[in-house]
Amino acid sequence: MIRLGVNIDHVATVRNARGESFPEPVAAAHAAVLGGADQITVHLREDRRHIRDEDVELIRKGIHVDLNLEMACTDEMVAIAKALKPEHACLVPERREEVTTEGGLDVAANRDAVQKTVSELKAAGIGVSLFIDPDEQALLAAGEVGADAVELHTGRYAGAQGEAAVLRELLAVRKAATTGKQLGMRMHAGHGLDYRNVWRIAALPEIEELNIGFAIISRALFTGLTPAVREMRDEMLRARELAGDDL
Ligand code: PXP
Repeated sequence: MIRLGVNIDHVATVRNARGESFPEPVAAAHAAVLGGADQITVHLREDRRHIRDEDVELIRKGIHVDLNLEMACTDEMVAIAKALKPEHACLVPERREEVTTEGGLDVAANRDAVQKTVSELKAAGIGVSLFIDPDEQALLAAGEVGADAVELHTGRYAGAQGEAAVLRELLAVRKAATTGKQLGMRMHAGHGLDYRNVWRIAALPEIEELNIGFAIISRALFTGLTPAVREMRDEMLRARELAGDDL
């Protein structure tokens, strides 16, 4: 089976753009669950540019699927995660000036901070994944610091132009998924996945979870969030089924 985590950060982006109290991320989380979301994913950024502390608390209290908290390796975020106790935390790099998370976490360069964060979260009973580029060195480092899972950054695959480039990036994700699985970690993927490109990633048998935000929230403007989530889930499951037929 493959799980879908729906990232609802952009519902908060819209709310904050008008300084209003709506649309409410917790209402979006309910609508996503009705569409078949297996988990709700939110990124509580240091600058609180979209999701805020009270959003995460409301989602934690009101939603009964898993919560996946994307967070930077900082003492502030670790304290919040320990109090909130999401089922999962995904450690991501964070730069104030970026529009979205641009690259994977450089685990080797930040080994001490990452290792400390992983152990503290795991000790609190939170499953930890690391958002990394589909790269052998990054996978080895993720295994060494004790991550339960990695989320492979699919941004290069999603942004590739032309069939040859798409296949090259897909192969990089596939190779990383195989290596990571051999290292004993669960394999997740996300970033830039949409209704047209998701099938090739969903078809990879090692991948157990996708976290998708922008494409789903964008489609929801026209179809509503529940059907947008359902449609993405159907795409993923169809790809997975067809993969058995050598997609
Ligand atoms: N996974 C992680 C770790 C992310 O940082 C993001 C972007 O916030 C996503 C998944 C979702 O990416 P997108 O919004 O492009 O679907």
